[in-house]
Parts: sequence; structure tokens; C-alpha cells
Amino acid sequence: MRVLGIETSCDETGVAVYDTQVGGAVGLLAHAVYSQIALHAEYGGVVPELASRDHVRKLLPLIRQTLAEAGLKPADLDGVAYTAGPGLVGALLAGAGVARALAWALDLPAIGVHHMEGHLLAPLIEDDPPEPPFVALLVSGGHTQLVAVDGIGRYRLLGETLDDAAGEAFDKTAKLMGLPYPGGPQLARLAEQGRSGEFRFARPMTDRPGLDFSFSGLKTQVLLAWRQSDQSEQTRIDIARGFEDAVVDTLAIKCERALDEAGCETLIVAGGVGANRRLREKLRAVAAKRGGRVCFPRPELCTDNGAMIAFAGALRLRAGQRASAGINVVPRWDMAALPPVGEPIDVGAR
Ligand code: KG4
Ligand code: ZN
Repeated sequence: MRVLGIETSCDETGVAVYDTQVGGAVGLLAHAVYSQIALHAEYGGVVPELASRDHVRKLLPLIRQTLAEAGLKPADLDGVAYTAGPGLVGALLAGAGVARALAWALDLPAIGVHHMEGHLLAPLIEDDPPEPPFVALLVSGGHTQLVAVDGIGRYRLLGETLDDAAGEAFDKTAKLMGLPYPGGPQLARLAEQGRSGEFRFARPMTDRPGLDFSFSGLKTQVLLAWRQSDQSEQTRIDIARGFEDAVVDTLAIKCERALDEAGCETLIVAGGVGANRRLREKLRAVAAKRGGRVCFPRPELCTDNGAMIAFAGALRLRAGQRASAGINVVPRWDMAALPPVGEPIDVGAR
């Protein structure tokens, strides 16, 4: 089954074609991402109306480009998947509208995909995918969650952030140290050269039981350290390293606890912060120590992309799930409410 995936929940237009006939990484026939970073940079953050308009502008050219790269014509497709939420409502509607219109014109089944389920399943696009049950660490710009995955579509929330998401903490911390938008990846790049231990920040909420996170206090600690420092380039680099160490350690400690609680030794990691090199290293070391396994998508499939939507949608379409023909999006959507895959269910608006 060849499924076209369309992602437009925020500031990235992602398009891909995934073929369920072929296993592993070759299942992904083509994928392309257009980032709106330059468009939003002068405002220091995403401007929703500009994002929606840019998705409208870029979607059809990107779909044509992706189909050409896959060597396919529209008539070769068997289904369409699009991000139906959570996300910016106008941006979601741009993708859902195009996806629905295509499905209607080509007489194809279509399904709205939960953006975080897309992230969660992205590691399974790679070779030798793990089988559930496993624990998923979802670390993006909007979410930080630990999820027990009992099966595809069977998700139990173990813990989540009480305030800022991990990616949001990276972005805000970068901003307060004067790095240009979007700061997260730039802060991570600076941290690569930083000296560990020059600045030591708290590992929030690791001194008490539980699997929830809190990252907003860390940002304040960094702000104080930065204000009281000489604000030299070396200091910026060392603070970036201290901040990254704190986030990475905190995530690793909670991942170990979640594995203990779930009673399993397979961890999967997804979402933009999953591209972080030091987080990947640390979690690999944790898995090696425990004799377990950690799986990540390649870094370009950690951040927003169409491949994860094509893949998650393909699993659901193949199981007989379909959305009704209306153009419906769900800006706020609880992942635990998703139907399991394997039972043919009319998921209605979703
Ligand atoms: O998953 P994603 O692309 O979008 C959302 O669904 O939010 O995640 C974007 C987030 C941003 O906050 C960005 O700063 C962060 O992921 N991010 C990183 C890195 N690359 C992206 N954070 C730390 N290190 C990175 N290398
Ligand atoms: Zn995302």
C-alpha cells in the first residue's frame, strides 16, 4: 500500500510516500521537508497566519516533487494520510484540505494522523524495528512525555512535563543568551564545544519519585548564571553545555525509571530533541548498561516530517481505519484516546 503523507502542524511542510509492501527503511520511497524558519525568524517565533499561508503555497509543489522522486504518478497512490492534530489550527487545515481534496479526486481512502503518534512511530521506519511493548520518550518543541506502548495505538501516559517541553526549554534558553531563532539546535551546537562542569544546573524533579518533568526553573537558573557572568563567548558555550547536561541527565534518569516501571528494556526516542547528539549518546550508554535496546529515527526524521505521517497513516489505513470525508482537525488531542491498530474502526472526524 503506497501512502502519501502530509505534515503541516507547525512551521514545516513535510511530504512523503511510504510503501507498506517493502519492509524497513526502503519502505520510505521519498520524503521532502520545506522549513519556514527564514519566514518566522524576524518575529522570533512562529506566526500562525504566515505559517498557514506558506503551507498553502508550498504543499502542491512539494507533493509533485516527492512523487517525482518516488517515480510515481498520483494514480499510483493507495491512500492519503495527513496530520489532523495537535497543532496550529490554520496550518493543520491547510494540509487536511489538500489531503482531503486529493483523496476525493483520486477516490482514495484517507486518514487524519495524530502528530505525536507520528513522532512516536518514526523509529519503526528504520531497519530492524523493535516490537511493542516498549517505552517511548517523546521530546519535541511542544511535548515531553514518557509513554508505555503496549501495541500500535495502545498508549499509556507514564509522565509528562508540568510546564515547558524539553525543546521549548532549549529554544527559550537559547533566546535569553542572545542566540537567534530557532535557538534549540544552535544551543546544542554551542554545547558541543563547552566544558562539562563549569556551570552546573539542577536536574529538576529527579530528587523525588515520579515520571513527570519540569524545565521552566532550569531556564531561570540559566538566566541568572548568564546575567551574573562576564557574558563572554566561552561563558556562553560553557553555560550551553551545563544546560544541555542538565536536560540530558534528567531525561535519562526518568527514562530508566520508566523502563523499571514498565518492566521492559526497549526504549524508543522521537521528536526534535531526539536529534540531540549528547542525548543519543547518553541513552545508548544507559541501554548498554542495562543490557537493553534504544532506538532512534535518523536525525532528519526526529524533527517534523511527512515520513512519520505517511508511516503512521499507512499502518492505520492498512488496518481498515478511515476518517470521514469532512475536513476536520483537532488542535488539542489526547493520544491515549486513539483507537488501537488491528481493529477496523471508523475513526470519524479523525
Ligand atoms: O518535533 P519537532 O520538530 O517539532 C514539534 O513537534 O515541536 O521539535 C522541535 C524542537 C525545537 O524546540 C528544537 O529546538 C528542538 O526540537 N531541537 C533540538 C535539536 N534539534 C531540534 N533540541 C536539542 N538539540 C537538537 N539537536
Ligand atoms: Zn513535532
